[in-house]
Amino acid sequence: MRLSSLLTSTARWGRASFALGALAVLSGCDYNFWQMDGHQSTISVAGPVARSQLDVFYVTCWVTLVIFILVGGVLAYATLKFRARTEAEEKAVPPEQGHGNPLIELGLIGASVLALVIIAIPTLKGIWYTYDVPEERKADTYEITATGYQWWFKFEYPSEQIAGTGSLTTGNELVIPAGRPIRVNVRGIDVIHSFWVPKLAGKVDMIPNRGNFLWMQADEPGYFWGQCAEYCGDSHAVMRFRVIALSPKDFADWVAQQTSPARNVAPKAGETPKAQFASLRTFKQNETGITDKYDVAPLEAWKAKQFPEKGENGALIAQGKALFVAKTCAGCHEVRGHGAAGITGPNLTHIGARSMIAAGLIENNAEQLQRWIHNPGAVKPGNKMAKGYIDNNIKLSNEDEVALVAYLQSLK
Ligand code: CUA
Repeated sequence: MRLSSLLTSTARWGRASFALGALAVLSGCDYNFWQMDGHQSTISVAGPVARSQLDVFYVTCWVTLVIFILVGGVLAYATLKFRARTEAEEKAVPPEQGHGNPLIELGLIGASVLALVIIAIPTLKGIWYTYDVPEERKADTYEITATGYQWWFKFEYPSEQIAGTGSLTTGNELVIPAGRPIRVNVRGIDVIHSFWVPKLAGKVDMIPNRGNFLWMQADEPGYFWGQCAEYCGDSHAVMRFRVIALSPKDFADWVAQQTSPARNVAPKAGETPKAQFASLRTFKQNETGITDKYDVAPLEAWKAKQFPEKGENGALIAQGKALFVAKTCAGCHEVRGHGAAGITGPNLTHIGARSMIAAGLIENNAEQLQRWIHNPGAVKPGNKMAKGYIDNNIKLSNEDEVALVAYLQSLK
């Protein structure tokens, strides 16, 4: 074996083992490689808009695969068939070169046009279909306004009005009725963000001073992962949210719960503040971190969060409620009915009922909530709450944190 061919084959094996290694890493992480069904998979879709976009993707894949096989086949054939087999052939003068064949060239142009037309038809159909809710389904449409902030999402429900307050407002968890078209009006407040729920619909930018919209639909009840898809500063990568699709009855129950004022847990007679519940549930972990394999299905875990935590301590919660105002949390967050009306941060009226906190970054349980309020800047770098702690000289003792966590968890 000559040195050059030895080197070539070593490089080839190197590349092959690199590809295998990459495959092993991918299949080891939070991703089912063979089903292509990660949390943010665009291949495993759950609604008509995402399905229409996936169809265009597949058509393009098939057309390009055919081109690849044809061109690759011709190239391989020519390379093998006309290679120099002997020393003499290698040294020989190349045969006279051709200068184009009008028939082949016209044929190739025709084939390219045909390939583009095959791709263009479903693409144009898809553009029209995904642009807005189809006319015949307009009457059934549910409308939501989503606003991007650095780094969280505000969701408003214009059809759910609360007397004296305005639209029902939530943060980072968008609850929608399954089986109905959802028209999402997207807005930006500081910089450009992008709204993206991969399993339900493609991305649309949230631009300050410019109204944009998209529509999507979840066919069945489910729990979906969303993500800001436009670089927007320090914590862009962790600017996430969830979409929870519910059956019509569950959705109506949720709206009724959410439009009511914040829950009050009165201390029982003679009760003393005492640290309470541990995590309701934890994500199963393996050596690579959080996996997508849960002990409880995410939608079921979310539903469980709608009920009061076990072992609530009314005295501790009352302490947390007073601290929420005393430590100026109320200056930035709204808790409807508890005298907190801030608008800088997410509305926390029912935060205890959300499955995630810190814009979909960490699970909403006592341990993570304390980690968050203890040092928000360490969890989500650059966020306004961390700056607020410095500006307002907010200092929390461990007792303060435990009481605040109990209060926030009680807000169902
Ligand atoms: Cu918001 Cu990226």
